[in-house]
Amino acid sequence: MHAIPYASSVMRLLAIETSCDETSAAIIAGEGERVWPEAHLVRSQIDIHQAYGGVVPEVAAREHLAYILPMVRSVMKGAKGEIDAIAVTAGPGLAPALRVGVEVAKTLAADWKKPLVPVCHLEGHIYASWLRENAEHIVTDLHELPQFPALALIVSGGHTELVLMRDHADFVRLGETIDDAAGEAFDKVAKMLGLPYPGGPEVAKLAEGGNSQAFSFPRAMLDKDNFTFSFAGLKTSVLYTLRDNEEKMTDETFRRDIAASFQEAVVDVLIKKTTKAVAFYKPASIILAGGVAANLVLRARFQTMGKELGVPVHVPPFAYSLDNAAMIGVAGYFRFLHGFTTDPLTLKADPNMDIV
Ligand code: KG4
Ligand code: ZN
Repeated sequence: MHAIPYASSVMRLLAIETSCDETSAAIIAGEGERVWPEAHLVRSQIDIHQAYGGVVPEVAAREHLAYILPMVRSVMKGAKGEIDAIAVTAGPGLAPALRVGVEVAKTLAADWKKPLVPVCHLEGHIYASWLRENAEHIVTDLHELPQFPALALIVSGGHTELVLMRDHADFVRLGETIDDAAGEAFDKVAKMLGLPYPGGPEVAKLAEGGNSQAFSFPRAMLDKDNFTFSFAGLKTSVLYTLRDNEEKMTDETFRRDIAASFQEAVVDVLIKKTTKAVAFYKPASIILAGGVAANLVLRARFQTMGKELGVPVHVPPFAYSLDNAAMIGVAGYFRFLHGFTTDPLTLKADPNMDIV
């Protein structure tokens, strides 16, 4: 395991996440490689955005603004000591939504005279694997944690990419999607099936009991010698199949089979591309990250893949798979230990922020 400076004392961060439609604040404590949440709150805005069929950035920002300060106040009461720094998601995400968290974090950092640590949301998703489902459980055996180099598959609503994590704060992107993200494909197929936003969990639910071999949807880029993804063709193929079978749109078996076959195609591509990257880069561990990591079929297939390849797999605790501030606090903790702080007066939200 890589040596960490100041490993002997507990550090504590306030973390803020407002990149999309979850308002979240957390207190993360850490000692060396170990991290744990002392307080954590998430407020989802899904009910509000459902009426629009997707997230409306200005509405998201208004909701973040109404809830973030009371949440910060509440988690601060759970801190078991003084905080050492403030971590905030600086990007990627929806500009008006990100700005709320960033401005609040800047103001608090300046007022409390605490260092400010900007965090990339995608890096946060990766660090969710450092947390445990039971917040009281603090890792004692460091081998329970991901080892470097780690290969991370990030699958969220806006991103699908394979990233090599050579160390804390040291990432190389191996490849990404050239069109839709995996979560976006789930959301769009859900819309085609008349299911509410966010579509991922809805399609996954519909797929239960469906025949995943009923339709052979395309698996793009599998023969290519790269780590690039594409889900637009798959989405279009589902659309054409639905158009060609309009009379069956209310047939529950047909709908289940479509959902299961679509999900199978997505999972298949994700697993095969990850397997290819493992063969090439020989990582010491494999990490699943991002909202689509909440998909039970993908979680199970990831575990099987790890066993077959003989490489430890880290799937984030279910509670930290979707957007949350705890994962941002963990990423911020390791960034802070490595000296990545910024001037509270100059930090700007960056909707297109990259992991590298
Ligand atoms: O990471 P996340 O919470 O937000 C972004 O950073 O984008 O990911 C949200 C995405 C949405 O596209 C949602 O449909 C998808 O994750 N998702 C799922 C499941 N739960 C959430 N996709 C498939 N199966 C699920 N169970
Ligand atoms: Zn996310």
